[in-house]
Amino acid sequence: MIFVTGGAGFIGSNFVLDWCAGSGEAVLNVDKLTYAGNLNNLASLKGDARHVFVQADICDGARMLALLNSHRPRAIVHFAAESHVDRSIHGPADFIATNINGSFALLEAARAYWSALSGEEGAAFRFLHVSTDEVYGSLGAHDAPFSESTAYAPNSPYSASKAASDHLVRAYHHTYGLPTLTTNCSNNYGPYHFPEKLIPLVIANALAGKALPIYGDGMQVRDWLYVSDHCAAIRRVLDGGRPGQVYNIGGWNEKANIEVVRTLCDILDREAPRADGASYRAQIVHVADRPGHDQRYAIDASKIERELGWKPAETFETGTEKTVRWYLANQAWVADVQSGAYLKWVNQNYDNRGT
Ligand code: NAD
Ligand code: DAU
Repeated sequence: MIFVTGGAGFIGSNFVLDWCAGSGEAVLNVDKLTYAGNLNNLASLKGDARHVFVQADICDGARMLALLNSHRPRAIVHFAAESHVDRSIHGPADFIATNINGSFALLEAARAYWSALSGEEGAAFRFLHVSTDEVYGSLGAHDAPFSESTAYAPNSPYSASKAASDHLVRAYHHTYGLPTLTTNCSNNYGPYHFPEKLIPLVIANALAGKALPIYGDGMQVRDWLYVSDHCAAIRRVLDGGRPGQVYNIGGWNEKANIEVVRTLCDILDREAPRADGASYRAQIVHVADRPGHDQRYAIDASKIERELGWKPAETFETGTEKTVRWYLANQAWVADVQSGAYLKWVNQNYDNRGT
């Protein structure tokens, strides 16, 4: 079996669902169930013996080692993290705890487990660490995209905490020989994306008749990748990646935020027109910028294509269409995650923000 952390979050749950759709191998899904973890994402696996869920905190190293020893996985795929940049600005402590100390505790447990494996099992074992392009910092308009050898320059508490975890993973390979793999991916979007992030927030707010908040001038650029393409890339790295290596993953889809929001409005205008006949674009509002906002991310994903033959299957056009349709068909999922603590976050981040 494989041991997945954070498998009830956005990317982790898509990964577990895709894994079970394409493989008979079982998944141990270890997740703390923070505000971002949602077992409803995995409802379709109810009763499926291949999916074993355990609620646990990766910071609890003894628990991680006990789970490894009792379930004997051949690999760990580590998604668990605090993942939202704006939350890291309002309160970085949870990011340090989970992304740095939690990754450290998990690495220590993995090292102890792996050290006791037989030669063949030890050689086949993999620790795959899921990370982000944000560790490389911000690009100017004409800079080359991030490659695996771009120097780290994280700018937010979130990206600094992910950079720290990447360095720990590197050190565990270099010092102890732990067979690690690291992936640094660009912005994902698709089903089960928590509506605090730009794309699902805009879809949910548009349908609710609320403002579509653009930070600053909206000219910041991100590279967008449909989530199932990210999951396929991770499977490819797990299968064929060379221990100790880093693989950048991206969609070759650089878009300014304002362009992303306008595209979503145009799809919604076709799929769920407003009652008054006006465009959803009328709901766009520019608000005060994110402090330290990175201007541009771009990923050079040629290494994973060259070495492992991975390429994204979706374009930005097909991926955004699918995403909007998923949110239209799953408004109960959105309503469920928006109840409770979500409202407190929306008030904290957007009320009195100014323009
Ligand atoms: P998410 O916030 O949607 O999900 C994170 C999951 O981790 C949740 O289920 C949460 O309950 C769990 N978790 C948090 N703290 C935990 C702890 N201490 N112990 C156990 N579980 C814990 O995040 P996501 O967007 O799915 O991102 C998953 C991973 O991918 C993260 O490591 C993130 O840095 C990375 N990543 C995300 C993106 C993106 O665009 N979302 C892009 C590149 C890389
Ligand atoms: O690049 C990969 C990263 O992408 C991941 O590591 C992070 O976990 C993930 O959250 C994402 O980070 P971003 O900060 O890029 O994503 P977010 O959806 O929060 O914002 C995307 C862009 O949209 C960013 O430039 C900020 C802007 N934005 C965001 C929100 C929530 C707005 O203009 N308005 C908003 O209300």
